[in-house]
Amino acid sequence: MTAFEHFYEFFVPDHYQLFFDIDRAKKEITGKTTITGTAKQADIAIHQKDLTIASVEVNNLAATYTVDDEKEAIRISLPEAGEVTITIAYKTKLTDTMMGIYPSYYEVDGVKKQLIGTQFETNSARQAFPCVDEPEAKATFAVSIRYDEHEGETILANMPETKCVDGVHYFDTTVKMSTYLVAFGFGELQGKTATTKSGVKVGVFGTYAHAAKELDFGLDIATRAIEFYEDFFQTPYPLPHSWQLGLPDFSAGAMENWGLITYREAYLLLDPDNTSLTTKRAVATVIAHEVAHQWFGDLVTMKWWDDLWLNESFANMMEYVCVDAIEPDLHVWESFQTKDVPAALHRDATDGVQSVHVAVEDPAEVDSLFDAAIVYAKGARMLVMVRALIGDDALRQGLKAYFAKHQYGNATGADLWTALGDASGIDVGAVMHSWLEQPGYPVVKASVQNEELILTQNQFFIGEGSDQQRIWQIPLASNAKDVPELMTERTLSLGNYTELRAKAGEPFRLNVGNNSHFIVQYDDTLLADILSQVSDYDALTQLQLLQDLQLLASGRYVSYATLVPLLFQFADSTHAIVNQALYNIADEFDLFVEPNTEEEANLKQYYHKLSHKNYTRLGCAPKDADTHDDQLSRPLVLQAALYGGNKDAITEAHDLFTAHKDAIIDLPAAVRAAILLNEVRAYGSEALFESFLQTYRRSSDANFKQDLQVAMTQSKEPVILEAIVAKFKEADTIKPQDLRGWFYGVLANPLGEQLAWDWIRTNWQWLLDTVGGDMSFTSYIQMIARVFRTSERLAEYKAFFEPKLNTPGLTREITMGINVITSRVSLITAEKEAVNKSIAREI
Ligand code: BES
Ligand code: ZN
Repeated sequence: MTAFEHFYEFFVPDHYQLFFDIDRAKKEITGKTTITGTAKQADIAIHQKDLTIASVEVNNLAATYTVDDEKEAIRISLPEAGEVTITIAYKTKLTDTMMGIYPSYYEVDGVKKQLIGTQFETNSARQAFPCVDEPEAKATFAVSIRYDEHEGETILANMPETKCVDGVHYFDTTVKMSTYLVAFGFGELQGKTATTKSGVKVGVFGTYAHAAKELDFGLDIATRAIEFYEDFFQTPYPLPHSWQLGLPDFSAGAMENWGLITYREAYLLLDPDNTSLTTKRAVATVIAHEVAHQWFGDLVTMKWWDDLWLNESFANMMEYVCVDAIEPDLHVWESFQTKDVPAALHRDATDGVQSVHVAVEDPAEVDSLFDAAIVYAKGARMLVMVRALIGDDALRQGLKAYFAKHQYGNATGADLWTALGDASGIDVGAVMHSWLEQPGYPVVKASVQNEELILTQNQFFIGEGSDQQRIWQIPLASNAKDVPELMTERTLSLGNYTELRAKAGEPFRLNVGNNSHFIVQYDDTLLADILSQVSDYDALTQLQLLQDLQLLASGRYVSYATLVPLLFQFADSTHAIVNQALYNIADEFDLFVEPNTEEEANLKQYYHKLSHKNYTRLGCAPKDADTHDDQLSRPLVLQAALYGGNKDAITEAHDLFTAHKDAIIDLPAAVRAAILLNEVRAYGSEALFESFLQTYRRSSDANFKQDLQVAMTQSKEPVILEAIVAKFKEADTIKPQDLRGWFYGVLANPLGEQLAWDWIRTNWQWLLDTVGGDMSFTSYIQMIARVFRTSERLAEYKAFFEPKLNTPGLTREITMGINVITSRVSLITAEKEAVNKSIAREI
């Protein structure tokens, strides 16, 4: 690795005065930045990207400088090291890449509007103003902004506005913070505010394309989340306000700018009168995540980007801890188990996956190293493991000390382990090491051999994997007594099985609570024992059993065909998370059937049988007497019943649609997608499509729009699918931020696969230019690998992507994609017959 320059080593900024003059009409920004700081040597460098520098002054005298575009730098030669004031005047552009300072586009009553916002993480602050754009270079910021302002506009920034003189808005100087957290936004905004018990002013802001009531839920959650963390961390929120701003165009999901958190509208605003539990969970957890960062990330910041994982994993864990405390009725840990855990287990089973912690020098690589399933989901799982190990008291005490020690400064993972270790007396770092520095995770085989219960750990792979003989420190969490807490060797004997089983009084299990990142393969004896009592187990245990079996089947450790009859043991479950796991598996059976074949008809019949009883119980429309689980199960069961051709379901869904024909947004949100989909599938027409598309264009309700998208992309009409693909580049209809969902929808539709695949190959450069800078750009490559299932497609995938293997940031994704498709193709070849036979037997 070539040594990478950290500009912070040459120049330590202390204070920035930032002035922006923004002309939306011309898309032009004129800026002036004054930085005071300490030069460690005479030759220093300051970051800039796409800035046209007009002048550089050092201590008020014109200075010599060179612009080094390749290194995104301005190099300045100072007369000498020491205290210095540098003033840089420049011009730049408002770009449409959702990075730096950028416009969001939207309409109110048919009138086109713009909202200006910012997105600086990871390294786009330098695109807005010259700065030492490294997390360690913390400084204070005094921001002032003038813009082509008109009546009725509002401007927000990290700190409160202190005055407005001659159209220039001046904001209070910030506390010491990193450049990537600076933010502002302006336009025609509506807002609602509240105050926390400790006096922090909290606000939610959005465009007037939304009803005022859509701000309420977010405001309530943000306010109580701040109160929760102030108590949990025993550290006050350090700023006077916490603004939440919804931006119509947003590349990520949300961003924790200090004091001014920005959100994709879908993750902030919701209609309190018609929103599903799932969406409420998503919004609440995203808010709680960003608010957690106000301490962990903003107050104490990672020293370098290699610890970005810790920043994100921590916030990802805390979002569940917080929402579970402030809104227990949402049962958010269930989402952790049904979303994060399987995402991590699945992704982490593919050879070539990154470890949670990756050494990274070049900031340009940071975003491409950002594998969400690993960084967020696996990382959070690691921290959940730590939390289970040390308990909440030690966690809180350790965090309090960590914040006190490092506030307004930076820290590393090791600093956190030290703080948690001091608080708990457990060497947290040592346990974590094997999990953070190694990719993948183990499958523990539990088997009875010669009366002895033997555990063996090996790395678990889906597809080809090169076994590196890795060993993990596995918290076993067994239900049997006398089983060691940690498994640290390859094999472990637990002694005589009969005795152990008798003492335990129940079937032997590992990873009780599913808090640790491994799966278990029980031998036939042990599995039969567990399955004989499966209906007595709690929902989480049942979910875990199904999840582990699904992974084992995907990795060919067990046959997929054995899962076909097994699902009936769970099919009538009233638990939503069990239904979720069940239908996740059933959905995989689709891999083994071709469209319009007898096998497909059998699979539908199988779905009908699986869902029949629960559908009869739950029906199509939500009911007042619904339990939490009913609300969450219904959409799953309804989808299954509709796919299974359940006549009652199809008619009831259609009737519900007809009853809401004039305002389909008012369909009950939890089942809206299923009902719209049913309409498209069973009663579709071009007229229906046109009306859905018009509705989509006009709506500003992100959840509703997504439901429409799901329905439209599942059309059975090639002409409609062609019409959709033809709109992919039309930002007035499909915003670039939403394209991913549309693309995936068409691609995953067997009738659209070719169209979407052709489209992306033809428009690759356009896609790169438009959303190539997004932190999750590689998800486009991932989605294709998720869908392809034939050797022909594999060859096409290789032909297209292999020449791009050396593109920085794409290498890993492409390699993993090839592995994923290859293993799927061989899974299908090997198991197709057995699975279809098993399905035919069960219907
Ligand atoms: N800080 C991240 C967003 C981010 C990460 C932007 C890396 C640029 C580079 C933010 O806190 C975040 O995690 N956002 C998530 C949403 C979240 C609640 C899971 C996202 O954008 O997906
Ligand atoms: Zn985050």
